[in-house]
Amino acid sequence: MTDRWGHSGTWEDMLRQTFKGADIKVEDLYLLEACDLEGLKERVTPRAIAAVLHANPSLERIWGTRYPEICTFIDKVTTEYGPASTRQELEFLSDKIVWEIAELLIYHRDPKFYEKRAAIDLDLKELTEEVNFDNRIVVDVGAGTGRIAFQAAPLSRWVFAVEPVTSFRRFMRERIRNERIKNVYVIDGLLSDIPLPDKFVDVLTTCQAFGWSLLDELQEIERVMRPGGIAIHFSGIPIDENGTIHPVITSDKWGYKCQQLSNQGALHCKYVRRF
Ligand SMILES: C[S@@+](CC[C@H](N)C(=O)[O-])C[C@H]1O[C@@H](n2cnc3c(N)ncnc32)[C@H](O)[C@@H]1O
Repeated sequence: MTDRWGHSGTWEDMLRQTFKGADIKVEDLYLLEACDLEGLKERVTPRAIAAVLHANPSLERIWGTRYPEICTFIDKVTTEYGPASTRQELEFLSDKIVWEIAELLIYHRDPKFYEKRAAIDLDLKELTEEVNFDNRIVVDVGAGTGRIAFQAAPLSRWVFAVEPVTSFRRFMRERIRNERIKNVYVIDGLLSDIPLPDKFVDVLTTCQAFGWSLLDELQEIERVMRPGGIAIHFSGIPIDENGTIHPVITSDKWGYKCQQLSNQGALHCKYVRRF
């Protein structure tokens, strides 16, 4: 069976293939931050996460401090499912959880490994053919290791790389220091909560980084964009026979146009809106 992203098997299988050899363990679950915990319940098998939580009770305290809303889910799942019945079962279920959310753990453990295995070729032409960067303020949200931000920097006035995961921010700041880059600023934030003023941004980009809370994100983008600005979202999801996969953002209300990318790698299309 092949899913809509063209992967056969489950998402977990795909992560096991993509990140084969990654050094991730059940203890790394302690590294998860609020942005990871927000979507956790949609990602994990309830029986497996319950077994892991029973075996590691201090996870609730740590996760609950970072993202209090997770406690309702933890209470529900640990009430419904008991502990694993044997050590082997616990090992099996722990391994399952680790691989169901492997990329999140790798973000925290090893940004370089993530970049090597999962970074998607993005031809900067896909951006520069839409907009001239000269003297513009560019914001890349969900910047990860900064692939777009660092490519855009030599062309732009300032680049803000907005990223909620601490280890990615540290990774980008090290690169800025090592390469003495003068115009890239790394900041903590979410697409639904961009820590920049109203009407500030000339060019906003995301690459495989939208849709956690889509309507809040679209509103937030409208808030920060300058009149005359442009927002471009690169997506790894193929467009369908109607020429779109995203009825919400391509609706009249939000007004994005969907375009197939010429270079058919793992990225399939871009959504472009001029403000
Ligand atoms: C699939 S990675 C893509 C990283 C980078 N854009 C790239 O193409 O290499 C998704 C990124 O979005 C970040 N992220 C997670 N939740 C987010 C949110 N609510 N708003 C913005 N970024 C988020 C993750 O930490 C991660 O860096």
